Amino acid sequence: MTITFDEKKKYFHLKNESVSYVIALEEEKYVSHQYWGKRLNSFSQVADYPRQDNAFAPNPFEVPGRIFSLATLPQEFPGNGSGDFRESAFECLYPDQTTVSLLTYKSHDIVIGKQPLQGLPQTYETKEEPAETLLLTLEDTVTKVEVVLSYTLFKDYPVLTRSASFRNNGAEAIHLNKALSMSIDFPDADFDMIQLPGAWGRERQIVRTPLVRGIHTLDSKRGTTSHAYQPFVALADKTATEDQGAVYGFHFVYSGEFRANVEVDTYAQTRVQMGINPTHFQWHLPVGEAFQTPEVVLVYSENGLNGLSQTLHPFYQKHLIRGQHQFAERPVLINNWEGTYFDFTADKIEAMADEASTLGIELFVLDDGWFGKRDDDYSSLGDWHVHTAKLPSGLKQLAENIKAKGMLFGLWFEPEMISEDSELYRAHPDWCIHTPSREKSLSRSQYVIDFSRKEVRDNILAQMMEVLDEVPVDYIKWDYNRNMTEIGTAAPGTLPGEVLHKYMLGLYEVMEALVTKYPHILFESCSGGGGRFDPGFLYYMPQTWTSDNTDAVARLEIQYGTSLVMPISSMGSHVSAIPNHQTHRMASMKMRGDVAMAGNLGYELDVTTLSEAEKQEMKEQISFYKEYRKLIQYGTFHRILSPFETQNEAAWIFVSPEQDEALYFYYRVLDRANLKKKKVLFKGLDPVKFYTVSGYEGAIGGDELMNRGLYLKDALQGDYQSVCLVLKEA
Ligand code: GLA
Repeated sequence: MTITFDEKKKYFHLKNESVSYVIALEEEKYVSHQYWGKRLNSFSQVADYPRQDNAFAPNPFEVPGRIFSLATLPQEFPGNGSGDFRESAFECLYPDQTTVSLLTYKSHDIVIGKQPLQGLPQTYETKEEPAETLLLTLEDTVTKVEVVLSYTLFKDYPVLTRSASFRNNGAEAIHLNKALSMSIDFPDADFDMIQLPGAWGRERQIVRTPLVRGIHTLDSKRGTTSHAYQPFVALADKTATEDQGAVYGFHFVYSGEFRANVEVDTYAQTRVQMGINPTHFQWHLPVGEAFQTPEVVLVYSENGLNGLSQTLHPFYQKHLIRGQHQFAERPVLINNWEGTYFDFTADKIEAMADEASTLGIELFVLDDGWFGKRDDDYSSLGDWHVHTAKLPSGLKQLAENIKAKGMLFGLWFEPEMISEDSELYRAHPDWCIHTPSREKSLSRSQYVIDFSRKEVRDNILAQMMEVLDEVPVDYIKWDYNRNMTEIGTAAPGTLPGEVLHKYMLGLYEVMEALVTKYPHILFESCSGGGGRFDPGFLYYMPQTWTSDNTDAVARLEIQYGTSLVMPISSMGSHVSAIPNHQTHRMASMKMRGDVAMAGNLGYELDVTTLSEAEKQEMKEQISFYKEYRKLIQYGTFHRILSPFETQNEAAWIFVSPEQDEALYFYYRVLDRANLKKKKVLFKGLDPVKFYTVSGYEGAIGGDELMNRGLYLKDALQGDYQSVCLVLKEA
């Protein structure tokens, strides 16, 4: 791994074993993008993009032949209003109300390791897998605004991270109206754009469309990342498939509002940008102060979409997720939410736990409704003390009783919310996100608590710590169940445009305090399911409740889409009752189990009402899962059949690092008359190894399984069928 600067030709070459990224200084000062893709041993065609005199393309200086223009130059961090008509990477508002900016090269540093980003979630290097960083300092020579672009390259991964830091070295305070984290220009537009849009109950659907002229924005203006878009976008070669072809992915390590722009310009060049959404953003930058953006992970895959995922999964597991649970096998849990909703007693919870423990379930999660006087979703958020009418012996007693059954105990919190009907709101009606001059919009009868304010954070943290210091809690589900509106604060000294980012910094500070003080607690983030399943959260919480939609058929798409960017060890997936509460579907227990075990297996139903046969099936599922969960959570995951393409089928496989063991799942939604037997193909096996396949005689070559495949033994009959095959090296 090396980052080099060629003094003579004025270019930087960042390269490791798999990827190269080249930046040049044109005319010694304009920072241009030259190449990103498969590793190159050397780079010779510096500044050899088509220089020509394009009509209406302005020149920043008098160039012979008028052949140099920022309007066509592929750039790394374009300025505003100074000759590049595409989207800028930032916008400064100067004291004279102007916004024109132009950055040129000032200096650079190549450093071993990665600079920490204060107060932000971030990827990190390890001793075994170190990193190297280029710090490229640019300056607006008129206003003395300085921007340090940071590029970190990781050993062994086709991954770079980028961020930007703005410093005001001028004579007067300025405002940042826009401060994206990165910008990059591709020389052409011959790509498909891939994104993961969604909604509540339909998170992360894979959408692939040809790139066309214009500016395509994926964003959030909802206060958080939200269900609507994942902070992710990829450009794929038109011929790229799951397993072949070049794909360029961008993923934002942040949990607030974001913007991802893909712009195809007038010359069919493509600009991709990512960062904090400028819509609700404005930052006051006094003289001498700096603003640090969050970072973006840039991943290049030469092996299609599976290649992209197979880079991101271990990268996030080893360089983003932290703490005791980073590589730990995840416990099989039961959550009482869909089993009881708010309607439970201590006896009911204990009865569920009794039954669950005999089935092999390891963790009991007490969901919403244990605090304040919360009997429905109209009250008590903010009052984090036990609901004594519901749990008269207290939470500690309940937790101890559950732990006496040999299970771990988990608890639900929604720390960032406040109900209008709460003691906390009555005491502090201005402690929520709001614009003081306007009415506040309720959503699920609650407001977002104002984590941009220290006294508010301290109050919530103290309340949570009081519970956690008393009750033996092993797991926390951290929920967040509305989007932000009327964004503002009652706190003096914070601009409306600063509230959201200060909120995020405050939230990250609170989470850091909790994971530091309670390192044994396994945290699972949640936002009405997967509304905040982003890399920012993974830095604090190693797993997420993937979706409130627990229907096995809907989950095929949700989990397939989520797996594009998120490691399997981060995906909570539960078996729930039938008819399913979201879709009313009656999927078989077998299929519900086979879908849920392709993630962190859990159950979310009232186990005390199940038949003996159902309980027996659950017991078998759980013991099978425990045997293979390491392979599932930490093995190499290959998507095989896409539910988005087939509409009726899905398949995937988990392969051990040594390729000596694999678990293959095939799912079929609806039956049809007169079908022939299904032949399935495998992926990720060692072509020269031989494997036994559960239910089949003898050993079959890996190459044969991957190329010829095999017929499923029995004709599948009826709807909602699934097959799980265990492959072992013979
Ligand atoms: C959200 C979560 C659910 C459940 C409820 C409780 O919707 O996603 O899993 O915890 O809140 O109110």
